[in-house]
Amino acid sequence: MIPDDVVRAWGWGAAEIAELPGGLINATYAVRQAGAPIAVLQRIHPVFAGEVNLDIDAVTTHLAARGLTTPRLLRTSDGRAWHEHAGRVWRALSWVDGTTIYAVPDPAWAEAGGALVGAFHRAVADLAHDYAFARDGVHDTRAHLARLTDHVAAGGPVEAVAVAREILDAVRGLPEMPDAPRRHCHGDLKISNLLFATAPLCGVCLVDLDTLGLSTIAFELGDAMRSWCNPQGEDRGSVGFDLAIFAAAMRGFRSVADPLVSAGEKTAIVVGLETVCLELAARFAVDVFRDEYFGWDPARFASRRAHNLVRARGQLALGLAVRAVRGDALDLVRSARLP
Ligand SMILES: Nc1ncnc2c1ncn2[C@@H]1O[C@H](COP(=O)(O)OP(=O)(O)O)[C@@H](O)[C@H]1O
Ligand SMILES: [Mg+2]
Repeated sequence: MIPDDVVRAWGWGAAEIAELPGGLINATYAVRQAGAPIAVLQRIHPVFAGEVNLDIDAVTTHLAARGLTTPRLLRTSDGRAWHEHAGRVWRALSWVDGTTIYAVPDPAWAEAGGALVGAFHRAVADLAHDYAFARDGVHDTRAHLARLTDHVAAGGPVEAVAVAREILDAVRGLPEMPDAPRRHCHGDLKISNLLFATAPLCGVCLVDLDTLGLSTIAFELGDAMRSWCNPQGEDRGSVGFDLAIFAAAMRGFRSVADPLVSAGEKTAIVVGLETVCLELAARFAVDVFRDEYFGWDPARFASRRAHNLVRARGQLALGLAVRAVRGDALDLVRSARLP
């Protein structure tokens, strides 16, 4: 149930609001008038402060001024950027029609998605904005690895120590990260955060904008490719890196963003991809020791530890699968002609 004061804040009626299933982090509701959706109403995850909406407002205003389709922040009837109820932040965004997918069905979708991400990056290249809200340390690789090293030294469950050693070993084989400038980044480009049109197939806009902030192309595209190119998902023992999806995504991205990104940044995408796989493996492995952070599925696993062990092994395997095709991936991002 949505609290009355939340519904009233935007001047809507409770009957116009229905939950949208499928979100991972936020509780998302569609607001419909005369049958047509006009907005999403979201109760955002507590890791994000209300001020994040000021950033969304600034960035999407810039995107719209550059001619891109984008959700826009809808202020409350009395002009506030968000509404608080019982300590939780609610906000509304304009509705954008589109199709959401949870795994990349084939390379054509990756190419369309890559082009959309390229268009976003071109559009924000000249944005000047100081973020009101910033979440630190998400991709502080060194810190995650240091935590894992400490746990290995302190000892713990046998299988935790074993996977941790393998991860730390794999990390030693990472190439050096080229210098890449900080850019305005989306920060969570999993494929379900892109809306698509299907006839013809085309990326429409990015959604889920709470993670907007300054980062590098290495983490932005590296993390996107980590999830787009492993269609089996994060929770499986079996993983695979699909180079055809990667090639298509880079073709789409480069077709729009090539004038923007340097040769070093292109290399950084591939190094970033391998890095984020091992970084996430390390984060899951740390939780095999600590047993406190990531959510887990009791229907499929005996414990949080067991679930995180599978995830850690999966991301390690994915990192090694990327490493096995690193040369090809580098050719795809660097080739003079689009792949
Ligand atoms: N402005 C919007 N217009 C239309 N659909 C949206 C909009 N924002 C989000 N959605 C839909 O709701 C889903 C969940 O929203 P999202 O912001 O991604 O939350 P979560 O953090 O839970 O993933 C999206 O995958 C998309 O299908
Ligand atoms: Mg999402």
